[in-house]
Amino acid sequence: MAETIRVLVPEKEVDKRIEELGKKISEDYAGKQVHLICVLKGGVFFMCELAKRITVPVSMDFMSVSSYGAGTESSGIVKIVKDLDEPLEGKDVLIVEDIIDSGRTLFHLMKILKERGPKSMHICTLLDKPERRVEDVKVDYVGFNIPDEFVVGYGLDYAQKYRNLPFIGVVEGVE
Ligand code: IMP
Ligand code: MG
Repeated sequence: MAETIRVLVPEKEVDKRIEELGKKISEDYAGKQVHLICVLKGGVFFMCELAKRITVPVSMDFMSVSSYGAGTESSGIVKIVKDLDEPLEGKDVLIVEDIIDSGRTLFHLMKILKERGPKSMHICTLLDKPERRVEDVKVDYVGFNIPDEFVVGYGLDYAQKYRNLPFIGVVEGVE
């Protein structure tokens, strides 16, 4: 069977939810500047769309971490592949993630970033798979809770493919 994609969250729903999140974040950060940190590469589509809908001043930085061993389970050892360009000291930091699965990546990333002295640090994720959680991470903003299925699109990949899909889908026809 050929690889096909089943739509899980259509583009319109994703857009609507990002709009709501942007509004909520703008209210919560009223009078402040929010420093968005994008975890590459998966978080990049979400962060760009979210940033456009935030009405308080925004600054952005990017980092890339690797947490996977060979398979599709994260190892819990976070290696910084590309670090942030700017210090976090005194900043109101909002980490923008594509998806939280076991929570291992974020748990370790938070530990590393908190040592850099931000004024505050919160988490915003487009997708959450709460059933899969191993590490207890407190997520402040969630786009959608989804079931335990491997999803692609809106930045998320399967073997580096499908990041450009404008919706969230499930890959079918692969074993
Ligand atoms: P965690 O450390 O298990 O929470 O893994 C989080 C990272 O694994 C995410 O930032 C994604 O890069 C990747 N990941 C987890 N689930 C999926 C999925 O369903 N599709 C694509 N990538 C995923
Ligand atoms: Mg990620």
